[in-house]
Amino acid sequence: MRLSPSLSPTLSPIGDDGLDFAAYDQDLTPLPVYKPAGDAALDFGGLLTAPLKIHEDLASGCGGQTWPAGMVLARHMLRYHRHHVQDARILEIGAGGGLVGLAVAKGCTLSQPLYMTDQLEMLSLMEHNIVLNEVESRVKPLVLNWGEALPEEVVQFKPDVILAADCVYFEPAFPLLLQTLKDLLALCPSATVYFCFMKRRRADMHFLKNAKKAFTITELPDDDRAIFSRQGLFLYSITSKQVHPKASQLGI
Ligand SMILES: C[S@@+](CC[C@H](N)C(=O)[O-])C[C@H]1O[C@@H](n2cnc3c(N)ncnc32)[C@H](O)[C@@H]1O
Repeated sequence: MRLSPSLSPTLSPIGDDGLDFAAYDQDLTPLPVYKPAGDAALDFGGLLTAPLKIHEDLASGCGGQTWPAGMVLARHMLRYHRHHVQDARILEIGAGGGLVGLAVAKGCTLSQPLYMTDQLEMLSLMEHNIVLNEVESRVKPLVLNWGEALPEEVVQFKPDVILAADCVYFEPAFPLLLQTLKDLLALCPSATVYFCFMKRRRADMHFLKNAKKAFTITELPDDDRAIFSRQGLFLYSITSKQVHPKASQLGI
């Protein structure tokens, strides 16, 4: 089963700063605040010397706009893993326009290209943003539908660092996302998933509860934690239960 963009929920992308955490502890989310299509430049508070250019366009689905957990995860990777991921085999899932993968490709030392994946509908926006940032040699876009068999390129690549930002937002997709995480950690049991999401509904915590049954989930240290947790954002590493989390985490 593949979820088409028409089934995507109308949730609020970035732009809700200042909302109290308690505001998200409801079954009803705030009305979406959509930006018109356009280009943004982000340097993550000076962590990138050449700003990341990102074209945002919701025409292909909700991933066409930058989401809050993507900002937190991109900043976390740039701040704490800039050099640790040098030899990692990196894969991003639910990449949307590619914010996190592109930030890592631009700001981290990498010895090989990373894969940036999403549904087919997001492929052209990922490709557009790869060209916009001139990182064609460092980022490969690919279709990866959660819940389906992993693409052969991914099976061959055996990613050991997986990036997932704001992938917990649509309850019908939770089992599909969980299955893909299981498949990826079965493929490479020493892999670490860097996982950031915003709690918007009570059901989001059901995803976490189910994920805790299957994996080891550890809060990642981050100097911005006090700020982003007030906004309902959570930042975790997810690892296979067989592997001690410290053994698979990169550096911190
Ligand atoms: C909320 S957006 C987050 C985009 C980006 N990671 C960010 O943080 O800005 C969630 C992304 O998950 C993707 N997605 C949803 N269901 C999916 C599925 N079944 N398979 C693959 N990707 C999916 C959407 O297309 C969308 O790009």
